[in-house]
Amino acid sequence: MKSPIVITIDGPSASGKGTVSRVLAQRLGYVYVDTGAMYRTLAWHCLNKGVDVQDEKKVASACRHWKARLECAEGQVFLSVAGYRPEKEIRESAASGAVPFVARVPAVRKWMKKTQQDCVQFGNLVMEGRDIGTNIFPDTDFKFFLDASPEVRAKRRHAQGVAEDVHQRDKIDSQRAAAPLMRPLGSLVIDNSHQTPEETVAAILQKIDEIRAARRPS
Ligand code: DC
Repeated sequence: MKSPIVITIDGPSASGKGTVSRVLAQRLGYVYVDTGAMYRTLAWHCLNKGVDVQDEKKVASACRHWKARLECAEGQVFLSVAGYRPEKEIRESAASGAVPFVARVPAVRKWMKKTQQDCVQFGNLVMEGRDIGTNIFPDTDFKFFLDASPEVRAKRRHAQGVAEDVHQRDKIDSQRAAAPLMRPLGSLVIDNSHQTPEETVAAILQKIDEIRAARRPS
């Protein structure tokens, strides 16, 4: 059996990963995986259980014991916790503030790595995050890194009505010891500060075609 194709989309907060990855997955008929939502789900779970997210040992223990399950519905993979999918809650400011602390814990990243790699059970994937091309699927041929200027990213978050300190989150994500945000080797870097999501999707589809054409035997 052919192994599933994985397209990785990494980049900082508000770099357009979510919109672009969703549209790309729809276009290609692939399953969309938002790995940030997985970390957010664990952050929400910790807050619910009164776990101090700054205490790495307690977060690691919560991650070892939580009853999270990978599910796939309407072309999207997500985690449900004890049968519940916290969709709205993970976007609220409490979870947004807690998530970088949860995401820097090595035991959490180990759990997430295995769980995210397990997503291939659902088929071909477009997976977005911070370490997908560097750490989760480093061997895929299809790696992209989206970026935009800090001003544009802050404006995007503001326009979405999300009160979030983009700079602070980027700092924690880039400086942590475990799987920091980095441009994957061999990735196509796209600065989409002045692009529409459609234009970014078109650039990615064109690159995928080029990679496939280069691999075809002549
Ligand atoms: O993409 P997002 O804003 O929903 O991500 C939420 C947090 O999770 C953010 O602080 C970075 C972290 N994250 C990560 O460390 N690794 C990933 N693959 C995805 C997200």
